[in-house]
Amino acid sequence: MALKITVIGTGYLGATHAAALAELGFEVLGLDVVPEKIDKLRRGEVPMYEPGLEELLRRHVAGIEGSSGRLRFTMDWAELGEFGDIHFVCVNTPQRHGEYACDMSYVDSAIASLAPHLKGPALVVGKSTVPVGSADRLAVYLAEHAPAGADAELAWNPEFLREGFAVQDTLHPDRLVVGVRSERAEKMLREVYATPIEEGSPFVVTDFATAELVKTSANSFLATKISFINAMAEVCEAADGDVAKLAEAIGYDDRIGAKFLRAGIGFGGGCLPKDIRAFMARAGELGADQALTFLREIDSINMRQRGQMVELTRQALGGGAFLGKRVAVLGATFKPDSDDVRDSPALNVAGQIHLQGGQVTVYDPKGMENARRLFPTLGYADSALEAVRGADVVLHLTEWREFRELDAAALGEAVADRLILDGRNALDPEVWRRAGWRYRAMGRPTA
Ligand code: UDX
Repeated sequence: MALKITVIGTGYLGATHAAALAELGFEVLGLDVVPEKIDKLRRGEVPMYEPGLEELLRRHVAGIEGSSGRLRFTMDWAELGEFGDIHFVCVNTPQRHGEYACDMSYVDSAIASLAPHLKGPALVVGKSTVPVGSADRLAVYLAEHAPAGADAELAWNPEFLREGFAVQDTLHPDRLVVGVRSERAEKMLREVYATPIEEGSPFVVTDFATAELVKTSANSFLATKISFINAMAEVCEAADGDVAKLAEAIGYDDRIGAKFLRAGIGFGGGCLPKDIRAFMARAGELGADQALTFLREIDSINMRQRGQMVELTRQALGGGAFLGKRVAVLGATFKPDSDDVRDSPALNVAGQIHLQGGQVTVYDPKGMENARRLFPTLGYADSALEAVRGADVVLHLTEWREFRELDAAALGEAVADRLILDGRNALDPEVWRRAGWRYRAMGRPTA
């Protein structure tokens, strides 16, 4: 009989994972402690913007016309314990306020709520990004608190999905990593992922600690690549070089690779910044802090980029204060194809300029609602054209496709001054210069 699967936490990761498992043919029960989220999901509505996810959900949520009916949602832990052979824990681990370490309380409370309902053999699989050593600790807790005792087993299976590509990354993962302590656990996870394994996704079996570390080290490597190219952008600025050309040229070397070498205002979002900080904090606890001191520099290069964008804007406007200057900001989310504004470099830059007296108007294709909630005092517009009307300078801060396709000539008619600063090195300078704009980007010559 096919395995029955539950998914605890229906945020980004959980909602996508639950829908993907239903797509793979499993009966799935999702649980969340927030009633509004459950109501929405039962109607087939996704609580965030993620391309393809709503369609996937609607194909499977029970009660929706034409759906497979394989995906249901509940708030009842007893029902969850009764239903599942495998329970995936997909709750988040945000950065703790004022600290580097991450907040494990959602993971801990999910395990504590689930444990008393594990009466027979079951596999509990952690997917959240956690400090190394957490799985060890949680396995002991489960064995002590589940009525099934050692038959309630733990495994760790980190998730590598990217926002904007969540559905694709979940159904066709680059690799599957499972930290297990028994053949039974490995066998069950091979069954869950039989389709992607057949389609060629590598399946890496490891111990708990390595599985946890794969996730944090992968994110640290990605953050390092971005901060490396941003450091090169600083040197290019000083030496009159062109970081975009430099990135292209070094990227042809297979050992380096061309991806994640786009210089600009740096990384943000709910993962990379908090993951490298939590990794440093954990290494400190383990007495291995020296091994990760370089991550402190990666973090500070990243944060410096935001300030440098503000300075670039100030200089481009002739120096001095922003008072009375109209600044149009294209982009609010931390990356395109997402409505996520958590730790968004774009909003940080917009906020700094606003605090220094600039009159800022922001437009983003999908992030307006979240941006308004987080920064209610900024100005907002309903389109790029409306945002740039009367602007002294236009800042391109999130690389949405919509912005690459803008009509530079039409926008030029609306602004007070044709001055565009590309904080993502993603626009074509020639297109803008031909339309009469002065184009400037971080780490590139003024031309
Ligand atoms: C990241 C990891 O990629 C993913 O594997 C993990 O599961 C979660 O964290 P995500 O947060 O969705 O995913 O964003 P990602 O695509 O990695 O981009 C992170 C940030 O880096 C964005 O703000 C993006 O704009 C920035 N970035 C990316 C650059 O500044 N330059 C680049 O070259 C690439």
